[in-house]
Amino acid sequence: MEKIFITDVSPRDGLQNQTVQVSTKAKLDLIRLLIKAGVASVEATSFVSPKAVPQMADAAELLQQLNIAFPGLRSSVLVPNLKGLERAFNAGAKEIAVVLSATQTMNQKNINMNLDAAIDASEQTLLAARQQGLLTRAYIAVAFECPFEGVTPLDRVLTLARKMLEAGAHEIVIADTIGAASPADVKERFTALASVIPLDQLAAHFHDTRGMAVANAWSALEVGVRRFDASTGGIGGCPFAPGAAGNLATEDLALMAERSGFATGIDLDRLLDAVDFAETELKRTLGGHASTWLRRQREKNIASAIFSKSISSQT
Ligand code: COA
Ligand code: ZN
Repeated sequence: MEKIFITDVSPRDGLQNQTVQVSTKAKLDLIRLLIKAGVASVEATSFVSPKAVPQMADAAELLQQLNIAFPGLRSSVLVPNLKGLERAFNAGAKEIAVVLSATQTMNQKNINMNLDAAIDASEQTLLAARQQGLLTRAYIAVAFECPFEGVTPLDRVLTLARKMLEAGAHEIVIADTIGAASPADVKERFTALASVIPLDQLAAHFHDTRGMAVANAWSALEVGVRRFDASTGGIGGCPFAPGAAGNLATEDLALMAERSGFATGIDLDRLLDAVDFAETELKRTLGGHASTWLRRQREKNIASAIFSKSISSQT
C-alpha cells in the first residue's frame, strides 16, 4: 500500500484562534492522544508575538515539556521571524516552519511586513535554521485566494515556492488559507508546482470553508502529492485572514485516503478520542464530515473494520 504522510496541525493552526484559552497541560494531552492514534508528526505551537496570538503564549513551555514526554515525536513549530527562531531554538525545536503569504496585504496583516520584507525574513530564517541543523518547512499562505486581494496569481506562487526551496526549505507547504480552492484549481496549481518543486518536498494544506477540502486533497493526491497537513476535529483558521474557517479534518483525510488505497498509519477509532477530548476542552461540537459515521461505527463496536471494503455499504 502506498503511504501518505500527515502532519496534524491541530495544536497550532487548530488552537491559535480559539476563544476558550487552552492550558499547556490540555495541549500536551491532545498531542498524547494524537500519538496514540498513530499520528507521526504534529505542528505543536508557534513562536509568534503573544500579543498577536495569546493562545500560543506558552510555546516555549509546551515545546520543552513535549520534548521530555515524547522525545521521538516529529514536531515542527511556526516561526515568523529570526526572533521566533531564536526562541524556538532555545526551547529545543527540531523543525521549524516559516510563513510567507503570497500577497502584499496578507503579509502586512499577518506579520506586519510587506511582501519583499517577508521574503527576506523567511529566507534569513530558513538559512539560520539550517545552520542550526533544524528541519525546515516553508508555508506559502493564500496560495489560491487572498481575503484582501482576490485570486492570487499562479506565477507569484511558483516564484515564491522556488525562492523558498532555494533558501533551503526541506518542504514547501502550499496553503489554501481561506479554503477558496476547488479541485480543478488544485489540479492546475499543484501540477504547475510539481514542475518546480520535487513532489516529495511538496505538501498541501487545505481549509474546509466551502466543504471542498477532502475533494481538494484527492485532487492533490492524483497529481502525486503525498504530504498533507490536517487538523483533528477540523479545528483551525488564521486569526488574520477574515473568512478562514476550519482545516481539512484529519479524520476526513485519513478515511478518504485509506478507503482509496493509501496507508496513513492512523487508527481512526483512537483519533476519535482526540476529537472527543478537543470537544470537551473547547466546549463545542467538533468533527469533520466523516466523524458522524465514524462515531456510529464505534458505537456498533466495529471500528476495527472501519477500513474494510466489506462494510462500505453499511450506513
Ligand atoms: N515572538 C515573540 N515576540 C516577538 C516576536 C516573536 N517571534 N517577534 C517580535 N516580537 C516582539 C518584539 O520583541 C517586540 O516586543 P516589545 O514590544 O516588548 O519590544 C514586539 O514583538 C514588536 O516587535 P516587532 O518586530 O516590531 O514586531 P511587530 O509588531 O511588527 O509584529 C510579528 C511582527 C511577526 C511578531 C507579529 O505580527 C506576529 O507575531 N504575528 C503572528 C502571526 C501568526 O501567528 N499568524 C497566524 C499563523 S500564520
Ligand atoms: Zn491553515
